[in-house]
Amino acid sequence: MNKIYFYDLINKENNKDKIKMHKNIKTNNKNNTFKSDDNIQMNNDSFSYKHFTVMKNELINSIKCDNQNKIYVDGTLGGGGHSEEILKRLNGAGHLFSFDIDIDAINYSKKLLEGYKNLTIINDNYINIIENLEKFGIKEIDGGVIFDFGASYHQLTSESRGFSFKFDSKLDMRFDQKSDLTAYEIVNKYKEDELVYIFSNYGEERYSKRIARAIAETRKNKKIETTFMLCEVIKKAIPSTNSRIHYATRVFQALRIEVNNELKNIKKILYKIVPFLKVGGIISVLSFHSLEDKIVKTAFKEMSKQCRCSINEPVCICGGPLLKLITKKPQLPDDNEIAINPPSRSVKMRTAVRI
Ligand SMILES: C[S@@+](CC[C@H](N)C(=O)[O-])C[C@H]1O[C@@H](n2cnc3c(N)ncnc32)[C@H](O)[C@@H]1O
Repeated sequence: MNKIYFYDLINKENNKDKIKMHKNIKTNNKNNTFKSDDNIQMNNDSFSYKHFTVMKNELINSIKCDNQNKIYVDGTLGGGGHSEEILKRLNGAGHLFSFDIDIDAINYSKKLLEGYKNLTIINDNYINIIENLEKFGIKEIDGGVIFDFGASYHQLTSESRGFSFKFDSKLDMRFDQKSDLTAYEIVNKYKEDELVYIFSNYGEERYSKRIARAIAETRKNKKIETTFMLCEVIKKAIPSTNSRIHYATRVFQALRIEVNNELKNIKKILYKIVPFLKVGGIISVLSFHSLEDKIVKTAFKEMSKQCRCSINEPVCICGGPLLKLITKKPQLPDDNEIAINPPSRSVKMRTAVRI
């Protein structure tokens, strides 16, 4: 079972990561940027960015971009690890368009990748990839597109952005820091039954009703402003257990998914981007938890069906399958990667080619 609670894993791994970071960092004083030997990167001004790039070689091998004079897209730039690998492999050929909705990721990656001429970085939601590419006169993606869905390590371990129950901060959790909906709005304004829905469906929280009730009761007297206040409410609402998973994990995951519309966006972009791939173009996707993977698996399966018409159609009008799966089962990180970066054990990669 791939039930993953990233918050929990991250909080456990956090201290180890800090130690590793210090060991690996090399400095380049000229541009004030630090670059690590492997996966963890950060710079040394007031803004620091930490990330792991998961299944880097597997993902980039899958889109076959070596020396290709084609268009590639990274829908989730983050700390730029996958984009950087694509650019290395392109070796000056083709063009890469990389998107992220989080300005921290954009600022960090712009600096990391500033030497590459065949790169365009765009600060927008990946659901707008096609509209953005069309502005550059691009009518199809002939190379490939990758997505590494979910939150970045940087976001989840940020002390100020409200993703983590480990730090006391405002309830925020927005990837896009300009958007209106925050975790605060949801916790303090959503109806009780809406909270139950979110906690059950996006967090698989068995005590959804109790927690939603406790939130509704608490906010009658005072607003729930911070991560620690929310933890307190959750703790009081549920029986204490010896579980290795922190009691707030599922609620935090659920709120993050709702704030960022994550599952709906994944579904939307998969069905939108596949027809925009040229025949032979490849789509390769990393998902971090079972909810994401289920959407990817279903979308790939539906788009690879011999006939995609509704059962009411008397004759087939759909034109046949859009995709051919490269492997039926998802690819997983190898033991070596899991040993270095334990949270990666929950990642699944699915790849398909446009036909
Ligand atoms: C797991 S990280 C990607 C890490 C990246 N592959 C790397 O190598 O560093 C996911 C990134 O996707 C971004 N993201 C999430 N939803 C998005 C959306 N709808 N549109 C654009 N970017 C999004 C997040 O802001 C985050 O930076």
